[in-house]
Amino acid sequence: MKEIKATVKVFREKRLYPRIHTLSSAADPEIIIEGKKVLLFCSNDYLGLANHPLIKQRAKEAIDNYGVSTCASRLISGNTDLHNRLEKAIADFLSCQDAVAFNCGYMTNLGAISAVINGINTFSIFPQKTLIISEELNHASIIDGCKLSGSKVIVYPHKDMKSLEKILKKHKKIRKLVVTDAVFSMDGDIAPIPEIAALVKKYNAFLMVDEAHSIGVLGETGRGVLEHFKLSFESVDILMGTLSKAIGSIGGYIAGTRELTDFLRVTARPYIFTASPLPPPSTIAAISAIEFIRDNPSIVESSRKNARHLREKLRANKFDILETETPIIPLMIYDEQKAIRFSDILFENGILAPCVRWPAVPKGKARIRCVIMANHSLEQLDRLVEACVITRKAIG
Ligand SMILES: Cc1ncc(COP(=O)(O)O)c(C=O)c1O
Repeated sequence: MKEIKATVKVFREKRLYPRIHTLSSAADPEIIIEGKKVLLFCSNDYLGLANHPLIKQRAKEAIDNYGVSTCASRLISGNTDLHNRLEKAIADFLSCQDAVAFNCGYMTNLGAISAVINGINTFSIFPQKTLIISEELNHASIIDGCKLSGSKVIVYPHKDMKSLEKILKKHKKIRKLVVTDAVFSMDGDIAPIPEIAALVKKYNAFLMVDEAHSIGVLGETGRGVLEHFKLSFESVDILMGTLSKAIGSIGGYIAGTRELTDFLRVTARPYIFTASPLPPPSTIAAISAIEFIRDNPSIVESSRKNARHLREKLRANKFDILETETPIIPLMIYDEQKAIRFSDILFENGILAPCVRWPAVPKGKARIRCVIMANHSLEQLDRLVEACVITRKAIG
C-alpha cells in the first residue's frame, strides 16, 4: 500500500491526475456540471441517440417487462429474446450472417481476440500457434486482448503498409491474425482497410477490424467502414464494434459468419463467465438506435455537416488540427502542461473538451480531442471556436 500512496502522490504533484467532472444531466450537447450549464464536446454519442425520447421510452418499457438485469450468464438464464433480437438487428444492419453481443466493447476485444487465438487450443481440435500483427495506434482493449491471448505480437507502424507486408512475408508459414482499428480514436483518421485486406489475403492471414468509431459514422448510411470503402463483408474475417458510441447505448459485438459467432459463444470467456450480460433497457435501446439509423440515414450526414463546419472554422482561425473525415477533430497543443491549461480555460468558458495526453497518445503530442454530435447546433459549434480563440490568447 505504501507504493500505491506514493504513486498517487506523484500523480497529484505532477498534475497527471485527471480532472474528473461530475454531470448531473444527460450527456446532451448542453450538460449540467456543478449547477453550471456547459457545452459538451467529448462524448462518443456521435448521433445524439443516448437521450432520444423514442429510444428512452422503449428502454422504460423494457424495464417494465424484463426488469433491470438478468443476473445470469447468457449460457445459463441470462439470454432473453431481446438479446436475440439485438444480434439479428446488428447482422441485418451489416448484411452478414450473425452477430454475438457482449456487455461492452472492451470485453468484446478481450474475449474475441483471446478466443480466436486460444479457443481452438482449448478444444485441442487444431492446436497451433498464432502470430498477432497489431497496428501501432490500436485501442487499449485490443492491446489487452492480445496480451491475454498469450500469443506473440508484432506491432506495425501506423498505417505503414510496407512494414505490414514485410512482417507478413517474413512469417509465411505460421497462422497470422492482423488486427486494426477502422477509425483511430485519438487521431480520428481511417485505416486503409482495402490495402490491409489485400495483404491479408495475399499472405493467407486473417483480419479483425474494430469499428467502434466507424459504425453509424462512416458510409453513406452509417453502416461503417465496409460501406465507406465499398467492400464486401468477405474482406474482413472478424468485424468488431461497440454499442457505446454512435449507437448511444452500451455493449459490444462481433459480426461475421454463423460459425464465428457460434465459436465465440462457447470460447469467449467474457461472454461465458459473466452474470452481467447487456441489461434489458440497454439492449432495447441499442436495437431501437440501429432501427432509427436504418430508417433515418440523414442523421449520419448531420453529424458530417457539423464536423465539416467545425473543421472549417478552426482552420479559418489558424488552429493546428489533424485532418480527419470523422467527428473526431484533434486540436493539437503538443505540450502536456499547456494542453491541461487549455482544457481548464475552455471549461471556465463553458466548454467541456478535455485534453488527451500520454499515455493515451505519445509524449509531446497532447491535444484537445473535440468530438462533434449530430445534434450540436451551429451556434454551439461557433461558441467552441470562440472559446478556443479566447483560450489561445490567455495562454499566449
Ligand atoms: C477503438 C475502440 N475499441 C473498443 C473500445 C471499447 O469499447 P467500450 O467503450 O464499449 O467498452 C473503445 C472505447 O473507447 C474504442 O475506442
